[in-house]
Formats: sequence, structure tokens, C-alpha cells
Amino acid sequence: MCYKQVLYMDYSFLNDNKLVPVVVLDSAQDALPVLGALREGGIKVAEITFRTACAREAIALACTNIKDMLVGAGTVINAEQCAQAISAGAKFVVSPGFSAEVAGECKRADVPYLPGVATATEVMAAKACGFDILKFFPAGAMGGVKTLKAIAAAFPDVRFLPTGGVNAENMKEYLALDCVVAVGGSWMVKKDVESTLRLSREATEALK
Ligand code: 3PG
Repeated sequence: MCYKQVLYMDYSFLNDNKLVPVVVLDSAQDALPVLGALREGGIKVAEITFRTACAREAIALACTNIKDMLVGAGTVINAEQCAQAISAGAKFVVSPGFSAEVAGECKRADVPYLPGVATATEVMAAKACGFDILKFFPAGAMGGVKTLKAIAAAFPDVRFLPTGGVNAENMKEYLALDCVVAVGGSWMVKKDVESTLRLSREATEALK
């Protein structure tokens, strides 16, 4: 089922937050130290992914305890995960591809949804369902800036969040494109909190 109608989802948080860290946690207990380090490093948005089983608990912990950060859910691939994410407090939802059932859950809960696309056909399908802020994934493997520029040229009203292979070296190249609303990635999220703090600081400083 496709929810083709005008969407009023609020993506304005991406205007002031150009870096969306992708956080994969082995344990929910790591959520506060990791997100705390990101926050101290100047980052105010983070995506905790459903790649690991602790995602729901980690999102709930982060949303309850870190009030000055916008915490969303990533790698959400079905309605069940989406409902879990939203009930845990996720403020936005990201998918690697487009899911009509996830879109429906997000729409019902009025939570912004960023579906993933990798081709022009997928952009057209997402647009047909009312979405024009899309994750471009996996950005690097699909050809990076060059491919994104070529695809985006056909869709002047679409903005992209490139993710997958984005890092400290190439983030500015992506962000220089008009079609890029923000970039996502895991490069600044390390096992140790000191490295996470240093890398997130470096990333936020580099964008000043
Ligand atoms: C994602 O889940 O969005 C990406 O896999 C993150 O990609 P990266 O680890 O290359 O930054």
C-alpha cells in the first residue's frame, strides 16, 4: 500500500544538524556513554540502528536521559521495528530502502521517515508515496558524489541524506551539493568514548 498524499512530516531538524551519526550498539548500556560523547563533541542528532537487538532499549534509555539530543532509529525494515522505535521515543526513522508499512507507521505517529534509495526508479517510487527527503544508501558503493549528482539532477525537488562510506575525508564533498540536506555515517562512533568524542569534535569543527 502506498500513502500517496501530501506529507507534513517535519524534517527541519536536518537544517541545523548536518551530521547524523549511525550508532550500532552491542549493549543498551553503551547508549548513554556513546551518545554522551557525541553530544559533547557537538552533535545533537543520532540514529541508533536496529542492526542489533538492543536498539529499542538503547533508544528508550537515550530518549529518557539525554534531553538535548534528537534520537532516531535506523535500519528499520518493518512495521514491528518501527512501532518499537516510536514507542521507545524515536524522533525520526531511517530505513535502508523504502517500506510502505514503515511509512504508514511513521505517518500515523507523525514521526519523520527517511526511506533509503539507491536508484532513480527508487526515488520515483518514494516520491510517488509523498517522500522527498531520502537517504542515499549505500552512497560510496553506489558511486558516491558522482552518482548522487547524476541521480539528483533528475529530481530538483528531492533532498538526500547520503550514508554508507561517508567519512571525515569526503563529508564536505557531499555537503557541498545542493541536493544534500545532511550526511550520515558511523565513522565518528568508536568502541571507546575518547575516540568518539575526538572524532565527533573534529567533524563538527570541520563544518564550522
Ligand atoms: C547505515 O546503516 O546507514 C550505514 O551502513 C552506515 O554506513 P557507514 O558505516 O559506512 O558509515
